[in-house]
Amino acid sequence: MPRLRELHGELNRTATGGVDDPRGAREVMPPLVELGRSGVALPDAGLPPADLGTVLAARRSSYRYGASPLPLTDLAALLRGALGVQRTVRLPDGGSRALGVAPSAGGLPSLAPYVVARGPGDLRAGVHRVDLRAGEPTLVPVRLGDPTPFLARALDQPELAERAGAVVVLVARLDTTLPRYPARHYRTLHVDAGVALGHLYLAATALGLPGVAVMGYDDTAFDALLDLPEDRFTAVLFALGSPAEA
Ligand SMILES: Cc1cc2nc3c(=O)[nH]c(=O)nc-3n(C[C@H](O)[C@H](O)[C@H](O)COP(=O)(O)O)c2cc1C
Repeated sequence: MPRLRELHGELNRTATGGVDDPRGAREVMPPLVELGRSGVALPDAGLPPADLGTVLAARRSSYRYGASPLPLTDLAALLRGALGVQRTVRLPDGGSRALGVAPSAGGLPSLAPYVVARGPGDLRAGVHRVDLRAGEPTLVPVRLGDPTPFLARALDQPELAERAGAVVVLVARLDTTLPRYPARHYRTLHVDAGVALGHLYLAATALGLPGVAVMGYDDTAFDALLDLPEDRFTAVLFALGSPAEA
């Protein structure tokens, strides 16, 4: 794993010209909250009934977002509907495993979603870890405060920082996958992230929420924002907001 981490660092240095924190994003991160702080329950909001063909035909990448904050119920419906637990299965050893709405290789919990929210509103400004596997899906605060200055420096398209109400970050987990699979699974993690991203696009479309996948970002800055340990890394972002006014 140390070698994999080194390779990951090498690959991503190409995005920043080899310069560490080139735009000073890490200097403007909101402060960390103390550990053990309780989270906010994600309301049990479902996706609206929608015809798959209609959703597939309507899906777009959207860069225009409404001025009103993204409601927590919409975010909950998106996260639970696209990335939540779909069912629990029995394992041969007598244990059980929760399987997601979005499939992952081996059914392993290979991704951890986070939300970077700009507020105001019932979705508090800051960075939240999304725990979808708990009995009650929850947003657990990691940092509280306005992340807009950070986003403006860490995204290659700084205009998204002022426009998007929230950014869903899909974090890839080496800790849950490399004990079972060889280093080649580093690639499979990106496929898992792509599958989850597709689900986010379709669920957002069904909910009428504008959103766009974003790969143009400073990897090490986002890993620092999310306070990730060495065995996890930011795989892809999905910027979204409330519907744009006509
Ligand atoms: C993996 C992935 C990464 C993307 N990264 C970016 C990005 O960094 N910035 C951006 O503006 N659009 C990004 N996009 C959006 C694509 O440019 C967009 O999907 C494409 O132009 C097709 O448009 P459509 O999604 O409206 O069909 C990304 C899309 C995917 C699937």
